[in-house]
Amino acid sequence: MAFILILIFITVAPRTIYANTQFQYHGGSVAKKVLPDVNSTNAMLLVNITVLNNAVFKGAVCLDGSPPAYHLHRGFGSGANRWLVHMEGGGWCYDMLSCSGRAASPLGSSLYMGDTIAFTGILSDVRSQNPDFYSWNRVMVRYCDGSSFTGDVEEVDPITKVHFRGQRIWQAVMEDLLAKGMYKARQALLTGCSAGGVTTFIHCDRFNDLLPGSAKVKCMPDAGFFIDSNDISGGNQQRFLVDQMVTLHGSSKHLPVACTSEMIPSSLCFFPQYLLQWIRTPLLVVNSAYDPLQIRFILVPAAADPNNYWRNCKMNITRCAPWQLRVMEEFTDYMISALTPVSNSRTGGLFINSCYAHCQTNVQALWHSPSSPRLYSKTIAEAAGDWYFGRSVVKYIDCPYPCDSTCNNSF
Ligand SMILES: *[C@@H]1O[C@H](CO)[C@@H](O)[C@H](O)[C@H]1NC(C)=O
Ligand SMILES: *[C@@H]1O[C@H](CO)[C@@H](O)[C@H](O)[C@H]1NC(C)=O
Ligand SMILES: *[C@@H]1O[C@H](CO)[C@@H](O)[C@H](O)[C@H]1NC(C)=O
Repeated sequence: MAFILILIFITVAPRTIYANTQFQYHGGSVAKKVLPDVNSTNAMLLVNITVLNNAVFKGAVCLDGSPPAYHLHRGFGSGANRWLVHMEGGGWCYDMLSCSGRAASPLGSSLYMGDTIAFTGILSDVRSQNPDFYSWNRVMVRYCDGSSFTGDVEEVDPITKVHFRGQRIWQAVMEDLLAKGMYKARQALLTGCSAGGVTTFIHCDRFNDLLPGSAKVKCMPDAGFFIDSNDISGGNQQRFLVDQMVTLHGSSKHLPVACTSEMIPSSLCFFPQYLLQWIRTPLLVVNSAYDPLQIRFILVPAAADPNNYWRNCKMNITRCAPWQLRVMEEFTDYMISALTPVSNSRTGGLFINSCYAHCQTNVQALWHSPSSPRLYSKTIAEAAGDWYFGRSVVKYIDCPYPCDSTCNNSF
């Protein structure tokens, strides 16, 4: 999760930011593949930002003290009382230096966010691009706290003026959405990608508890199953960074108590694998078993590969040697075994493919298009709809790389 450092390069806020902003720290390399077979001029739905000025008096603010924000596109027809809430991702900040750098970017301040954002993939309002959720109320909640919406520290650092208030942002945004009609939701789905996928795991039951008891509520974290694993040198930098982040943001008290009362240190409950057994709400876990961010920052962080044996492989999976693919396969086996509570759950779902991809639900070409990745011939959109509406059991786990010919692998 050390990739946050690269995030600081985002210094200018374009007026329109694509929904998959978490890709920006790779210098837009993904933008090339986003729309290979989608008519982008037709697909572009730009949704205005809503800045929650009245959250400031509750102390629910971004890192720099500015108000939090979201984008809402209203549902229509049969979707009028259905709500899809997508939590934006974009790494984390672990120390005062990285958090104060981030406070001067769209991931730390609403002052830097554009006026509109493009809704694509799971946020699209076009049936052919988003077959089951296009008519729902769709919300993109902006991420500006650096802790996956878990921070809650009253004191403000006197020098940097950085605020750690992610949990309060969660609360304030949900209250506002409830008031805007979500209180009468009949169906709802909490989702999000990367750090927003972690948010989805952590807040899933809390989301469910906010909605009417009769509502059908489910959660679909995408690329959020960051695992607690040793790296190739036997170290575990992630644990250290996560512990540092949870401490800095005062997050422990808002992680699920069932988990924090058992785990030592309690910051381990930031890793979704330790939360799974406690989550009551049905979950569909969407993740690549070869998530490039996990390969780069958990399996082979720079410090674990001083001779750069992995440099080419980490950048481009087609350049990995057979021995490296074997190491990756062990890692993916471990990830899949950590998902056992979901595989064994009656209501749980899995869409675990072997594509070199991070965030597959908010990118049109990966979510649902003629050339999207597929498992059992279903796109992620089709599998997600099948699972949400109970049309079929969705427990799809791919064969090891490079067996899946539907992957694009150009991360
Ligand atoms: C894209 O949209 C334009 C304008 O509606 C249309 O003329 C064109 O044929 C479309 N292209 C594709 C590939 O669908
Ligand atoms: C979005 O904001 C612009 C500029 O403030 C405004 O003209 C437009 O009507 C808004 N669109 C919607 C759908 O509210
Ligand atoms: C990855 O490497 C292969 C083989 O060297 C090359 O053909 C391909 O273009 C590379 N992909 C990317 C995204 O750089």
